[in-house]
Amino acid sequence: MERPIGIFDSGFGGLTVARALIDLMPAEDYVYIGDTGRYPYGSKPLDDVRGYASELAHSLVDDFNVKAIVVACNTATAAGLDHLRSELAVPIFDVVGPGASAVVRASRSGKVGVIGTVGTISSGAYVHAVESAATAHAVAAELSSAACPGFVEFVERGQLSGDEVMVLAERLLAPLAGAEIDTLLLGCTHYPFLARTIGEVMGPEVVLVSSADETAFAVRQRLTEMELLRASDEVGARRFLSSGDVEVFRELGSTLFGSDLVAAERWKR
Ligand code: DGL
Repeated sequence: MERPIGIFDSGFGGLTVARALIDLMPAEDYVYIGDTGRYPYGSKPLDDVRGYASELAHSLVDDFNVKAIVVACNTATAAGLDHLRSELAVPIFDVVGPGASAVVRASRSGKVGVIGTVGTISSGAYVHAVESAATAHAVAAELSSAACPGFVEFVERGQLSGDEVMVLAERLLAPLAGAEIDTLLLGCTHYPFLARTIGEVMGPEVVLVSSADETAFAVRQRLTEMELLRASDEVGARRFLSSGDVEVFRELGSTLFGSDLVAAERWKR
């Protein structure tokens, strides 16, 4: 099956998911769109975000003929993906379900935390997802959440550490630091880039979990079941597109992602 897998996010955050997908399924072709021209999603009304997600997903199908879409953005998922699933004939994967499943399974005490954008946390998407995951795994889970406005902006500027990030992290994570959680889900695909600072604030007793690997395993399993996986020993092609400044995307993208991101193209709505 030669059609690519499509991935989108508001910007660079989805690259953490793209990395996990590429590492697990290197033979696949990938098309990644970072909507940097309209980021951040996290502080925007969820109706607007739903519209952006719809444009991106339709473009991946119509313009790039993708065989599956990975919505590598918690906020877009929190805004609701039902419309995409009913409009499009390709499987649509999200990061919220896999993330919730990963955090519930990783916790020993059942006291888990999630951090995300204002849009994601206020939507309650993780309250439902963690409840479902706890039921599915027959465990108890007590969830504490915190929105972290500002984190995404640091990542989009390429500022991944330093005093400013630390001061903000200490302030935003204070409610969770006192909640006795043993596991913290990074419920925004941008946050793994700040894992060092977040880990330092939370302390060594708290395990940080990202949804990237879990999502990649879910995608591989479903594509295998649907007989859509590409059987080849060759490494697939990767295309990276941005709705914002392409040169900025290429430069920061290659710093964050590595040498697979050598060129970026303009995504036009
Ligand atoms: N990376 C996205 C998420 O997982 C969105 C960040 C933003 O644009 O605010 O929520």
